[in-house]
Amino acid sequence: MKFFVDTADTDEIRDLAATGMVDGVTTNPSLVAKSGRDFMEVLKEICEIVDGPVSAEVTATDHETMLAEGRKLAKVASNVTVKVPLTWDGLKTCRALSDAGTQVNVTLCFSANQALLAAKAGATFISPFVGRLDDLGLDGMELISEIRTIYDNYPALSTEILVASIRTPIHLKQSALIGADVATLPPDVLRKLANHVLTDKGLEAFLADWQKTGQAIL
Ligand code: G3P
Repeated sequence: MKFFVDTADTDEIRDLAATGMVDGVTTNPSLVAKSGRDFMEVLKEICEIVDGPVSAEVTATDHETMLAEGRKLAKVASNVTVKVPLTWDGLKTCRALSDAGTQVNVTLCFSANQALLAAKAGATFISPFVGRLDDLGLDGMELISEIRTIYDNYPALSTEILVASIRTPIHLKQSALIGADVATLPPDVLRKLANHVLTDKGLEAFLADWQKTGQAIL
């Protein structure tokens, strides 16, 4: 399973990339706004930090302008994945960019039928938002299961399921159990994955006992 980090904060990306766990990055207009930086500048920097796909989202809503924006974003670096919303204009743009050899991430997916459309439009990634469905009292993970089943029913569809709007480590575990291809994780959730109270307690006890031996490895 690939891990992407869901942020436009380059310090966070650099720090997490050093763990060897970061296979790509996803950004969106809200995350760029949060960074307070120029979009093109921050995108270029992220693409230099990570070798894997870096999602950069268009902000137009009509096909022609989306396509022009997507082409401009794709020129920033060879690892840019253009992100388009799951609308008819977005799907049309997905097809055009994908036919031209550009990787596309179709975002704001909230139903299995939307995911099927994205795959038929040649999307490299589909981004279903699990946390936002949970927020409404719905079951975000059920959507991931449905998309996995549908994509597996049609092996010619090569779109990867990129679970987005992840809020907790439990979302990640469930995504992995279902067999999602990618998870995009907020930095704090990625960091939490290694934590366990018994790991901390166990380490503390080992170190205390080691100290009693009076030995040193180095
Ligand atoms: O990148 C899109 C997605 O991960 C957003 O998450 O927490 O704003 O629903 P959230």
